[in-house]
Amino acid sequence: MADLSIDFCGIKSPNPFWLASAPPTDKAYNVVRAFEAGWGGVVWKTLGEDPPAVNVSSRYSALHGKNREVIGFNNIELITDRSLEINLREITAVKKAWPDRALVVSMMLPCEEAPWREILPLVEATGADGIELNFGCPHGMPERGMGAAVGQQPDLIEQVTRWCKTYTRLPVIVKLTPNITDVRAPARAALAGGADAVSLINTINSITHLDLDRMVAFPAVGNASTHGGYCGTAVKPIALNMVAEIARDPMTKGLPISGIGGIGNWRDAAEFIALGAGSVQVCTAAMLHGFRIVEEMKDGLSRWMDSKGYDNIAAFSRKAVPNTTDWKYLDMNYQVIAHIDQDKCIQCGRCHVACEDTSHQAIARLVDGNARKYEVIEPECVGCNLCEITCPVEGCITMVPQQTGKPYMNWTQDPRNPRAEVTLDEA
Ligand SMILES: Cc1cc2nc3c(=O)[nH]c(=O)nc-3n(C[C@H](O)[C@H](O)[C@H](O)COP(=O)(O)O)c2cc1C
Ligand code: SF4
Ligand code: SF4
Repeated sequence: MADLSIDFCGIKSPNPFWLASAPPTDKAYNVVRAFEAGWGGVVWKTLGEDPPAVNVSSRYSALHGKNREVIGFNNIELITDRSLEINLREITAVKKAWPDRALVVSMMLPCEEAPWREILPLVEATGADGIELNFGCPHGMPERGMGAAVGQQPDLIEQVTRWCKTYTRLPVIVKLTPNITDVRAPARAALAGGADAVSLINTINSITHLDLDRMVAFPAVGNASTHGGYCGTAVKPIALNMVAEIARDPMTKGLPISGIGGIGNWRDAAEFIALGAGSVQVCTAAMLHGFRIVEEMKDGLSRWMDSKGYDNIAAFSRKAVPNTTDWKYLDMNYQVIAHIDQDKCIQCGRCHVACEDTSHQAIARLVDGNARKYEVIEPECVGCNLCEITCPVEGCITMVPQQTGKPYMNWTQDPRNPRAEVTLDEA
């Protein structure tokens, strides 16, 4: 059976599944139950200076799908609302009772050296395995000069990371905000400051929906609201891209990454790991479905690894990174064409409408009395995937690679490129 254990920047964990810093890791009661359920590690809910933060009511909102499934989750919660002393006491006790699990402590303090110098030794004394710097919280705390306000300024990231490396021997993970144009800049700054790893993403600025009678967004606090942080399934594509950006950046190549954002099952986790993550963190899925989801995650990942012959996590970690490139290096001679399996087709016509109205008019609607048939006009198909995406029957439309007989040729080599820049060798 595949070995799921990891060593993430010196932090050992029996499996790569950690709970992200959030309500599931708010207190010893939750964390102990999470460990009992089988989570490999936790990042404790962000600690701050006393007096603790004060939260509002209400705090969460969501974007639902047609069947009430939660597509995206939004919150306006702050960091821990419990005292530093209580949190440190509980962390010490939990780590002592669960020595084989990863226990990372998330922290957020003002951008001044003194509080870091004072509090870091207290955190280290708990026996925790590492710290994570919350430079990502997008609501409330940035108004006080912390969270995403730091994560959006590379010089501050570098500075605070350096203080942490000065005042603790624990591994330092810098948690990045996605509310930034180019995530490589803060990752490079974290590395320059001495970070042992980065984690991403924290939540994305969001307003999910409004009460149009009261003209106020959700979550409403009386008659007003504010933007929150978006997470859950909807943010996974954004998070995956940001993880890949850092993994393939030559300046941060090899920097350990803890992947976060919309992870809800083993497959999501495997994707993050293949694109550069060494551990994964989960928040929303655990909040919606409970701690036991980790059983399916571990089981599914382990079975899949066995089926692929991957003995351990390192065997497939970063394996998809070399296949993630800039657009200009994609093969201009590669060609796929849609194929409809007539036995599976239910003649709904969606593919025809989509291709006819917004793509390449490459699906014919053939009417014979009451019977309808949909057929791909192959010479017109550009292989955009739209019909395959819109078809309600899984596996009915497939995209079939064509034998063009032409060699690999990217845009930099393409005679149609008026600004051909570099040769293949340089690529
Ligand atoms: C209610 C709530 C509270 C959160 N609090 C924190 C926090 O205190 N510190 C932190 O670093 N991230 C916090 N997060 C962000 C999560 O740790 C995580 O980065 C984000 O939710 C994306 O992961 P997900 O899609 O699995 O939820 C919070 C998220 C939620 C939903
Ligand atoms: S792949 Fe695109 S162009 Fe080809 S048939 Fe489908 S929608 Fe039309
Ligand atoms: S969308 Fe799928 S099921 Fe509907 S007509 Fe097209 S191929 Fe058939």
